[in-house]
Amino acid sequence: LYAVKRFRAGDDAPVPRSLSTRAQLYERVFPQYRQPVEVGVFSLDSERSFFNDSRQLRYYVEPSKKPNFNLRDGYRDRFVKRDDGVKERLDHILKWIVTNRAKLCSTSTSSSSCTLGVHFVTWRGHLTKLLVTPYETQEGWLLAVSKFRGTLYMSEVETEAARVNRENRAEKHEEMMYWGYKFEQYTCADDVNGVPDRGGVVNTNEAFCTVVQTHLADHKLLFSGEVDCRDKDAKAPPAPGCYVELKTSAEICTPKQRSNFHRYKLLKWWAQSFLPGVPRIVAGFRDHDGIVVSVETFLVSKISQLIKNEHNCWKPTVCMNFCSDFLSFVKSVVKEDNPGLVYLFAWEPHRDVTYTVHRDSQYTFLPDWYLKEMAS
Ligand code: A3P
Ligand code: MG
Ligand code: MG
Repeated sequence: LYAVKRFRAGDDAPVPRSLSTRAQLYERVFPQYRQPVEVGVFSLDSERSFFNDSRQLRYYVEPSKKPNFNLRDGYRDRFVKRDDGVKERLDHILKWIVTNRAKLCSTSTSSSSCTLGVHFVTWRGHLTKLLVTPYETQEGWLLAVSKFRGTLYMSEVETEAARVNRENRAEKHEEMMYWGYKFEQYTCADDVNGVPDRGGVVNTNEAFCTVVQTHLADHKLLFSGEVDCRDKDAKAPPAPGCYVELKTSAEICTPKQRSNFHRYKLLKWWAQSFLPGVPRIVAGFRDHDGIVVSVETFLVSKISQLIKNEHNCWKPTVCMNFCSDFLSFVKSVVKEDNPGLVYLFAWEPHRDVTYTVHRDSQYTFLPDWYLKEMAS
């Protein structure tokens, strides 16, 4: 069985056409994944403005065993929702790169232009989608890739199905998306010695992001991900080891619910936190009325043990090997160094990954200001 289906054009080297996503093909030894190193941070304020600092970083405040947080509180009157119709693509990461180009770039002696020395630049969330692909049966994805000065930039494009879902969300679903952010407000303080302000406004424009560098097999990666909060103990390990991911989930009452939690939710939670090296997930379990009835900590390094008794369960090695093979596939397809050229990789459940090529199209995503900054 071959994951990559190759296409021979005359005497040229075989050009891969598609990539299988069948889990069995990726059941081999765990690929090398280097401990992610934080190379920078940035913040987005209540108006979504970029700052090259940690002003939005919050501190985790452990709740009591039976917290009784009401996640519905404030939805009507103390909620500012980010406009998710605005597509920011890689712009904040590119802003971070431009701001930090002096320490990031190797400049040749003949010119002052900048090469990054990494193979891929992307969002952590895009990599999370790749990791879970061999197990995903509901939602496909589109990833746009352009090569510029030797680096592959990978930026998600919203699928038609995702756009329709977003524009037709039920009111109940809209409210439930708020619950996760409200839980963050109950468990985070703005200052190291502060307490949570449960009466404040929840504004989902605000974000603190870590930028990490790591290797997956022979792929050198630079990516950024949003971080919910950090351990306030001064003796906590350095970032990303001090970061804490916050999650909410429906309370588990039956063996079937437990099994579904292990099979579906823990897969996504694990993938999201494992990638940037965030070691701890704090989960608030809520009832149907949005009341948090219990809080539990999951160590990311222990999740694979936790799910091992589950029949036909997901495997971390499949996720990481698929991601590694997908990145190799992208490298073998995207040869032309041209920011106006976009290779659009597409995947739908039960299908192979395929791609199409687009020149100076609606898919072009590297902005002129970035190209200019990196060339001067
Ligand atoms: P929960 O995951 O606790 O429900 P994150 O956990 O990644 O920091 O995201 C914070 C919250 O944003 C989530 O909290 C959820 O409410 C919302 N959210 C994130 N990704 C989402 C998605 N793909 N669809 C719907 N809501 C999402
Ligand atoms: Mg978050
Ligand atoms: Mg979270």
